[in-house]
Amino acid sequence: MSESLIYLDGNATTPLDPLVLEEMLPYFKEDFANAASFSHVAGRKSDAAVEKARGQIAKLLEAEEKDIIFTSGATESINLALKGFVEFNFLPENALISTAVEHKAVLESLDYLVEQYPVVEVEVDRTGQVNLDSLEDVLSENSGLVSVQHVNNEIGSVNNLYAIGALCRKYESFLHVDAAQSFGKLPIDVNEMNIDLLSISAHKVYGPKGVGALYVRRRRPRIRLTKQQHGGKQERDFRAGSLNVPGIVGLGKAAELAGERMVSDNAYVKNLTEIFRQLLSDAIDDVIFNGPAGKGLPGNLNFTVPGLDARELLCELPMLAMSTGSACTSELSEPSHVLRAIGVVGDKALATLRVGMTRFTTEAEVRKAAELLINKVINIRKKTGNVEQVS
Ligand SMILES: Cc1ncc(COP(=O)(O)O)c(C=O)c1O
Repeated sequence: MSESLIYLDGNATTPLDPLVLEEMLPYFKEDFANAASFSHVAGRKSDAAVEKARGQIAKLLEAEEKDIIFTSGATESINLALKGFVEFNFLPENALISTAVEHKAVLESLDYLVEQYPVVEVEVDRTGQVNLDSLEDVLSENSGLVSVQHVNNEIGSVNNLYAIGALCRKYESFLHVDAAQSFGKLPIDVNEMNIDLLSISAHKVYGPKGVGALYVRRRRPRIRLTKQQHGGKQERDFRAGSLNVPGIVGLGKAAELAGERMVSDNAYVKNLTEIFRQLLSDAIDDVIFNGPAGKGLPGNLNFTVPGLDARELLCELPMLAMSTGSACTSELSEPSHVLRAIGVVGDKALATLRVGMTRFTTEAEVRKAAELLINKVINIRKKTGNVEQVS
């Protein structure tokens, strides 16, 4: 990455922590054996590394090690959780229950499943959080599988999983959580929160891309899934295919580091976000902050500068790595579905930017980014004659 680039897109992906890389390297080199090759020492060594990672991940979820299934990332975990659960368990009267602000991995899986089963939408409030009354209304009439995200990837809203899990149990429905944005950043306890299935990804938490995991509860209640990928009995026969040992080792190490650093990382990125927010609001009177305003995922900030074309602005500031709308759909120019769901529509949605601080972002970078952005807004507004909002 170029020296001059200021990377503020930590919700799209985080940089690989050098300590994670160090842990992974031997498994690309001398310790390359297949983790399924139990017939020799080298294979058993790879298997031991995989099992160590399973333990590191389980610890962060207060889960049992055996309940962790390795996958290629949160998208695959979500597909396996939703399709696999429905295929194995659903009766004609069951429904899928979710929200309009989920990641596309959930929304497109639901689009696929809606051919066979009803999908019922639960309302979210203006900060993107699940409306618990709406959830209770839906659950009192439908039973099946609820799928909600823990943290929204665009606006950082955090769902109350204790309350959501308790409602699911009360109405005898099951709960899948997309925790791609929260794993390693916010505390998760799958038992206290009554979570049955939970999807995570390594690259959102300073691990490598292309590896993730699905938590599948094995006890009280036992969750059964139909595997979606055939060709071997790996991962409790839920997911066929040779394991990505270096990636899994990286995910395990990333989880271990996240557990140790959660409090200090959060305090650090929260402070950076507050500096950035203050600089913006001091300079741009009409800037609007979207989402839960200081109560969301630390490090995330989503804001609208009315009248601005966010895409054009970023094209003119190539040294700034930020996002317009959802990272995973940012090649599309349509306004973000999350913003639409919380009422940020039309030109405002296209005037919206997202920043995500990481543990490697520096205060100097944050100040520089704010300065570049503010100066650009002032220049654009001068050119268009719209200067009154810039103080
Ligand atoms: C909330 C959420 N869910 C799922 C995903 C998909 O994760 P992955 O890139 O591991 O497939 C992402 C990635 O942007 C995300 O933010």
